[in-house]
Amino acid sequence: MTAKGDDYVLYADLLIHSAEMMATLEGNSESPACGEDMSGIGFIEDGAVAIREGKIIAVGKTEEVRAGGWVGPDTKQISAKGKVVTPGFVDPHTHVLYAGSRENELSLKLKGVPYLEILKQGGGILSTVRSTKQATDEEIKVQTSRRLRTMLSLGTTTVEAKSGYGLMLDDELRALRLIHELDKEQMVDLVPTFMGAHAVPPGYSEVEFTNYIIDEMLPQVAAQGLAEFCDVFCEPGVFSLDSSERILVKAQQLKFKLKMHADELASAGGAELAARLGVLSADHLLQASGEGIADLARQGVIAVLLPATSFNLAKNSYARARAMIRAGVPVALATDSNPGSSPTESMPLVLTLACLYLRLTPEEALVAATINAAHAIGRADQVGSLEVGKLGDVLILDIPNLNYLPYHFGSNPVGMVIKRGNVVWEA
Ligand code: NIG
Ligand code: FE
Repeated sequence: MTAKGDDYVLYADLLIHSAEMMATLEGNSESPACGEDMSGIGFIEDGAVAIREGKIIAVGKTEEVRAGGWVGPDTKQISAKGKVVTPGFVDPHTHVLYAGSRENELSLKLKGVPYLEILKQGGGILSTVRSTKQATDEEIKVQTSRRLRTMLSLGTTTVEAKSGYGLMLDDELRALRLIHELDKEQMVDLVPTFMGAHAVPPGYSEVEFTNYIIDEMLPQVAAQGLAEFCDVFCEPGVFSLDSSERILVKAQQLKFKLKMHADELASAGGAELAARLGVLSADHLLQASGEGIADLARQGVIAVLLPATSFNLAKNSYARARAMIRAGVPVALATDSNPGSSPTESMPLVLTLACLYLRLTPEEALVAATINAAHAIGRADQVGSLEVGKLGDVLILDIPNLNYLPYHFGSNPVGMVIKRGNVVWEA
């Protein structure tokens, strides 16, 4: 940290200081943390972070940051005494853009009707496709903004958002356009993913719809520059390994970065395919085989795990996170926020479930929900840690230590959310 001469001092707009415990998550911005590095949270006692024009300009002990000369007469100062300070959570897997809800499916689930059976009967994803199609742009945006606001209040400052409740070209383009509009209009930063391959609509065979995605949809989405990523629901009965591969190969040719819903409900070689294609992240992975896990590790594919989905599907089946970490797979966490398999916006809940059922330590869970999650959406240069040059996305958690975060569940631990240096939410 360099002290600055008075004549050219650019003071911080905001100083957060005196944090009981600050987790900077520094040191893993080049590549995602794996193995033992997943326990490194960059702990600083009595920590401070200074922000100017939305970006972090100094991080360290309160004393050091003050001595660095960053604090001027107009610097707003917030004390985090007795509290925990972390980067904003990054939620790298959501289906947050839709209209309507599916609480009617709860009773079917309780009667034991399987998730894919509800889809086969025209419900599930197809039911949300219908309610989204019937809604106006404004209705979809109002409903989605409400969820994004809830996410922000629960500490999430960057969110990946998939299309996939449109399925036909015009509806998918509309969904992606609305994601772009929402990105500009509300506080949370959104990263758009095209997921036309979310379900096969009525009237198409799987192969016909796969051809439609490859020939009609992907080229248009690419030409309009509407999505960074392409994702596929690779699952027996939805998109086969073969169709998933054809879609993702075409997407790669069109310069999309790749993601995959893999081995969620059945063990069918999804992880192996994800590794072979070199996708950035393979998500769900409840049923990933030992070989699949070894392949992911070898290729450096990030496993985005979604324990809230496992919890809500109520089958007592969780991804084998410990085996993944042992094998060297970088693990990230996400909500999978969607109206069917995971109707929640809460990253704090995901952290609790990750510790209790994926058996992550609180440190590993925090790494997975911040810097590794940022890597999973190609944003580790901007968010996911408190380091000089990154966005001033900071949480002041109203808890005495990190263990408390997964420990106390079901209420909001977030005291204050700072997005790009501005206080955007306060308890
Ligand atoms: O990730 N698995 C596919 N898609 C979502 C569920 C979407 C829905 O049910 O509406 C998921 O779980
Ligand atoms: Fe999903």
